[in-house]
Amino acid sequence: MKSDGSDVVMSLKNVSKIFVKRKFLRRSIPFYALENINLDIEKGERLSIIGESGSGKTTLARIASGLDKPSEGSVFWFGREITKLKTKKFKELRPKVQYIHQNPYASINPSRTIFSVLADPLKRYEGEVDSIEKKVADLLRSVGIVPPEFFFNKYPRHLSGGGLQRLAIARAMIPKPEIILADEIVSMIDMSFRAAIVKLLIELNEKTGITIVMISHDIGVARYFSHGGGRIAVMLRGRIVEIGPPDAIVDNPIHPYTRALILASPVANKRLALKKRELLPKYNIQKEVWESEIMKMKGCRYAFFCPFASEKCQEEKPELTDVEKDGKHKVACHMIEEIPAWELESVG
Ligand SMILES: Nc1ncnc2c1ncn2[C@@H]1O[C@H](COP(=O)(O)OP(=O)(O)OP(=O)(O)O)[C@@H](O)[C@H]1O
Ligand code: SF4
Ligand SMILES: [Mg+2]
Repeated sequence: MKSDGSDVVMSLKNVSKIFVKRKFLRRSIPFYALENINLDIEKGERLSIIGESGSGKTTLARIASGLDKPSEGSVFWFGREITKLKTKKFKELRPKVQYIHQNPYASINPSRTIFSVLADPLKRYEGEVDSIEKKVADLLRSVGIVPPEFFFNKYPRHLSGGGLQRLAIARAMIPKPEIILADEIVSMIDMSFRAAIVKLLIELNEKTGITIVMISHDIGVARYFSHGGGRIAVMLRGRIVEIGPPDAIVDNPIHPYTRALILASPVANKRLALKKRELLPKYNIQKEVWESEIMKMKGCRYAFFCPFASEKCQEEKPELTDVEKDGKHKVACHMIEEIPAWELESVG
């Protein structure tokens, strides 16, 4: 329990993941997919993690789920460091943390009926039960696959992308997890069905109190998901650069990269789109830089692209620091004082 009374169910402490990437001339340089991540996730929280492709979202989620090991640092579940757990205890806690894969076509066996996709793990976790049909029907109903009996003998191919993700969510709920990490689960779904899946996750969170971490590269999806008490974390090249409630991140962003991300996101309103396009160069210098150059630099990973970059930014990595007294909004930037007031009232 934290001093403010909240329960932390998952923590990442100084977590880094290094992949050695080969460069030219047989020299290989370490590539930090994650660098010094510190993150506490609270019980019942709806946390969104956003960032462009390659920023380390999946790496973070897989390490947090215990599927991969960090190169440095530690992962804690319910206050216990997972690498220090005895095998028996780890196996006991394992089902409490569920990871839902970005691609349901790859994670659900297409040759099994929808009934057996759910019935088999149900039997594994609960043993042989008389009422298995009822349990499968209840699960399908809880994720909006209705009428459930109609789908019992159908195959995953009979479901839409959204339907498949509903099935993946139902399967993840079987071990009665306390934490679900959903990795880009709406990215392969038609725009028109995305809101319904995110709404389903919100309802599950509200009804059962389950902690949900949702990864997305869409700031609009993140705002919708984390609205009402959740947080959004913004990742840039393996680091969390800003974290806070959606009101702070979307309506009052501070980090130049968060601002650029918001300004680059598409909106339907033409006037707003024009304004955003005009403002973007204020927060992002467009230039081509070798990835190896960025990885080699000592300081901020945004320094090549940041119009506010100073000498200190080249030399020293900024750490997350509080910008609000309540400690909820944190930003990793050396030049916070120099960043002007945010220009947009509505970001669409
Ligand atoms: N096994 C690996 N070996 C080498 N590099 C890897 C490996 N896995 C990931 N990476 C690199 O680590 C970085 C972060 O990858 P990651 O998949 O976590 O990004 P992401 O934010 O999830 O991206 P996306 O939005 O495209 O899913 C990328 O540059 C990726 O190429
Ligand atoms: S630390 Fe410096 S380079 Fe990095 S975002 Fe802030 S001002 Fe820009
Ligand atoms: Mg990913």
